[in-house]
Amino acid sequence: MLWQSSFVVLRLLSAVSVVSAVNWTATPFLPPSYPLAVRTPFLSTWLPQGTGAALNDVWSQFWNGQTLGWAGFVTVDGKAYSYLGNPSVAGATFVKATQVSAKFTSTQSTFVMDAGPVRLTVNFLSPVEPKNLLHQSIPFSYLAVSAVSTDKSRHTVAIYNDITAEWVTGDTSLTANWTTTTGPVVSHQVQLVDQTLFAEFPGQGQTKYGSIYFSSINASSLSYQTGSDTVVRAQFINNAALANTQDTNFRAVNNNWPVFAFAHTLTVGVIPSAPVKFTIGQVRDPVAQYIIAENVYQDRSFYWRSKYSSVSDLISDFIHAYPVALATASIFDAKVQHDATSKVSATYAGIAALAVRQAFGATELTISKANDGSWNTSDIMMFIKEISSDGNMNTVDIIQPAWPVFMYTNPTLGKYLLNSLLQYQATGLYPNRYAAHDLGREYPAAVGHNAGDDEKMPIEECGNMLVMMLDYMHRTKDNSLATRYSALLDQWANYLIENTLYPEDQLATTDFSGSLPNQTNLAVKGIIGIKAMSEIWSTLGDQEKSDNYSSVATSYMATWEQVGMSSDGTHLLLEYHNQTHDVLAYNLAFDKLLKTNLIPELIMKKQSDYYANNFDLYGFPIDSRSPYASVMWSLWTSTTTSIAVRDTFISKIHDWLTSGITSIPFGDRFLDDTGVSSGNRARPVIGGVFILLIV
Ligand SMILES: *[C@@H]1O[C@H](CO)[C@@H](O)[C@H](O)[C@H]1NC(C)=O
Ligand SMILES: *[C@@H]1O[C@H](CO)[C@@H](O)[C@H](O)[C@H]1NC(C)=O
Ligand SMILES: *[C@@H]1O[C@H](CO)[C@@H](O)[C@H](O)[C@H]1NC(C)=O
Ligand SMILES: *[C@@H]1O[C@H](CO)[C@@H](O)[C@H](O)[C@H]1NC(C)=O
Ligand SMILES: *[C@@H]1O[C@H](CO)[C@@H](O)[C@H](O)[C@H]1NC(C)=O
Ligand SMILES: *[C@@H]1O[C@H](CO)[C@@H](O)[C@H](O)[C@H]1NC(C)=O
Ligand SMILES: *[C@@H]1O[C@H](CO)[C@@H](O)[C@H](O)[C@H]1NC(C)=O
Repeated sequence: MLWQSSFVVLRLLSAVSVVSAVNWTATPFLPPSYPLAVRTPFLSTWLPQGTGAALNDVWSQFWNGQTLGWAGFVTVDGKAYSYLGNPSVAGATFVKATQVSAKFTSTQSTFVMDAGPVRLTVNFLSPVEPKNLLHQSIPFSYLAVSAVSTDKSRHTVAIYNDITAEWVTGDTSLTANWTTTTGPVVSHQVQLVDQTLFAEFPGQGQTKYGSIYFSSINASSLSYQTGSDTVVRAQFINNAALANTQDTNFRAVNNNWPVFAFAHTLTVGVIPSAPVKFTIGQVRDPVAQYIIAENVYQDRSFYWRSKYSSVSDLISDFIHAYPVALATASIFDAKVQHDATSKVSATYAGIAALAVRQAFGATELTISKANDGSWNTSDIMMFIKEISSDGNMNTVDIIQPAWPVFMYTNPTLGKYLLNSLLQYQATGLYPNRYAAHDLGREYPAAVGHNAGDDEKMPIEECGNMLVMMLDYMHRTKDNSLATRYSALLDQWANYLIENTLYPEDQLATTDFSGSLPNQTNLAVKGIIGIKAMSEIWSTLGDQEKSDNYSSVATSYMATWEQVGMSSDGTHLLLEYHNQTHDVLAYNLAFDKLLKTNLIPELIMKKQSDYYANNFDLYGFPIDSRSPYASVMWSLWTSTTTSIAVRDTFISKIHDWLTSGITSIPFGDRFLDDTGVSSGNRARPVIGGVFILLIV
C-alpha cells in the first residue's frame, strides 16, 4: 500500500474538481461526450464536452477525435442561425442559436435550441434493436429537426444540414467522389476514389473502404447542393434555399472542402412542426472476411442484405420508418431507465444509458452467402471491434466484460458473438491448446492466428469462454452450441485444470499492468471456469465428468483461499503470498453471475470492507501497481459487495464522468486520484455496466 501515501498528496492537489460552466439543462448529466450517430465501428460520431460545449460550439468528432464536419443552419424569416457544428462562412452573416437543453437516453441525444422566435428540437437517434436482427444490422442513424414558434406568430423557417467528406477518410488529402440521387428520397453518396478492402487508416480507426450515404425525404420544398463549404453554406444563409446543383469536380477532401447539403422550408406556428429527417450511414460490402476450414477466407455481408438488394431501398424504408423507430427507441429507453432505477438507482441509470450506443456501436451483424449465391440467414455472426486499445476483432476479453449489455437486451446475441471463435478453433487451424485471444489483429479481417501468435492470455480466455458459454446456456436453454463444440470446451477446461491453480507468469485482461505469476484474481477465473465446465457437462448429460470437474474446482478453491489471502486475513492479494499489492477482485463476480457458489461469503465480505476502507477520490484501483480504476470492473465487482459499497463505486464513476476532466467517448480506465483518462475510449467493454441488471 506504499503508493497510496504518495498519491494522497496528488489527490489533495486535484480535489478542486472542475465545475461545469454550462447554462443549459443537462439531463441526466453532462457526459464527457454525447453520442450523435453511433452504430458501427465506422459510424461513430460524437460531440465532445469536457466542461460543456453546445451543439453549435464545436465540430463533431469520430470516436478517435478527428473532426467530422456536420453543419446545421436555420433561417427564420430570412435571418440565419447556426445550430450544429462550428462553421465560419466568408461572405455570409449568421448568429448562433442558443442552446436551452441537452438530454441523452440509451438511444437518443436531444438538443433544444432557440433561434430567435423559433425553438428547434434536434434529435439524434441511433436505434438499438437487438431482438430485431434486420434493424440492428442497419448501419444508419437519424437526425430529425422540428421547429415551433415561441412568440405566437407564424414564421418561415428553412432547415439546413450538410456533411463534409471527412466522414469517408482519415486522411483529408485523399480524393473523394460523390453523386446525388434525386427522387422521392434524395441521397448524397460519398466515398474515397482509391479504396482498400478490410483496411483502416492506421492509428485512427476510420475505414479505407465503403461509402457514406446522407439522405433526406423529398418534401417540404427540399433543395440540395454539393460544392465548396463556403459556397454552399453562403448560398443557404443568403437565400434560405439551395441551388439544386452538383459539383462534379472530384478532388481532395480538404481542397475547397466539398460539402453535401440539404435544406427544407417550412411554415412554423405554435404547434411543433413534423420533424425534418436526415439519415446518415456508412455501408461496406463485404463487411468483413472470416477464416473457415482449409484456410479459406469467406466474405460476409450485413444481415440486412438478406432483405434488401439495394442500398437505396434500404434507405427509403429506413428514413420513412423514423416515427416507428422513435417509438420503439423510446420504449427501449424507458425500459432501461426503469430497470436501472428500480433495481439500482437513478445515478446508475444515467451511466447505463450512456453505455448503450457505445457498446452496440462497436458491433456489426453479418451473414454469409451459400454456394448458390443465396444469403444464408442461419449463419449469423456478430463482429465486435476492441476500439482504441487496439483494433482486434472479437477479442474474448472484450466480449466478456461487455457481455452484460448483450445478455440484458437479447441473450441469443451470445451465440452470434461466440460462434465465430468456436468455429475457427474447431477447424484445427489455431495451434494452441488454450483459447485464442481474438479472431484477427485488425478489424474487419477475421483471418485468425494460424501461427498461434495472438496476444497470449491463456487462463483469461479459457475461463472467459467457459463462463460465457454457461451463462449463455442458462439464459437461453440452448445447448446446441456447447454440444457441437464440447471437445473444444473440454480441452480448455483441461488446460485450466493443469494450469490455473498456480498460473505461470502471464497477462490477464488488464494487460497494461504487465504480466505476473500466481495472480489471485486470474486463478479464480480459471477455477470458476472449471466449475462452469462441470455444469456444462452436467447439462449435456455426462455426470461423471461433471462430478470430476466439480471436485477439482472445490479442491482448488480450498488451496486458493489459503495462498491468495493476505497474512492478516483482511483482503485478497494481487499475487499469492506477496503482501505488497492488493487487487480489485472482479473475477469473483462470475460466481454471482453463474450462481456457482464457490466463493465463501466471508471472502466477499472481507473484500467489500476492504474496498470501503480504501477508496480513492474516483474509485478503487484495478490493482495497487497503479492508480488506474476501471469502470466496468468496478461495477462487475460491485455485485460481490455490500449495497453501500456498490453505491460508492457507482457514485465515484458518476463523479468522474461529470468532473469535466475528459471529453472523450465514455472512457473505461482512469486514474482514481486525478481522473485523468487512459487511452481507452469508446470501447464496447463499457456495456459491462449492465452487470447490475443481469445478476
Ligand atoms: C449561455 O451562455 C452563452 C455564452 O455566454 C450565451 O451566448 C447564451 O445566451 C447563454 N444561454 C442562456 C440560455 O442563457
Ligand atoms: C422532388 O419531387 C418532385 C416531385 O416529384 C420532383 O419534381 C423533384 O425533382 C424532386 N426533387 C429532388 C431533389 O429529387
Ligand atoms: C467513385 O470512385 C469509385 C471508387 O473508385 C468508383 O467505383 C465510382 O465509379 C466513382 N464514382 C464516380 C461518380 O465517379
Ligand atoms: C448455412 O450456415 C449454417 C451455419 O453455419 C451451415 O450449417 C449451413 O450448411 C449453411 N447452409 C448453406 C446452404 O450453406
Ligand atoms: C506460485 O506459487 C507457488 C505456491 O506458493 C510457488 O511454489 C511458485 O513458485 C509460484 N510461482 C511463481 C512463478 O512464482
Ligand atoms: C477426472 O479428471 C482428471 C483430470 O482431467 C482425469 O485425469 C481423470 O481421469 C478424470 N476422471 C474421470 C473419472 O473422468
Ligand atoms: C512482491 O511484489 C513486488 C512488487 O511487484 C516485487 O517487487 C517483489 O519481488 C515481490 N515479492 C516476492 C517475494 O515475490
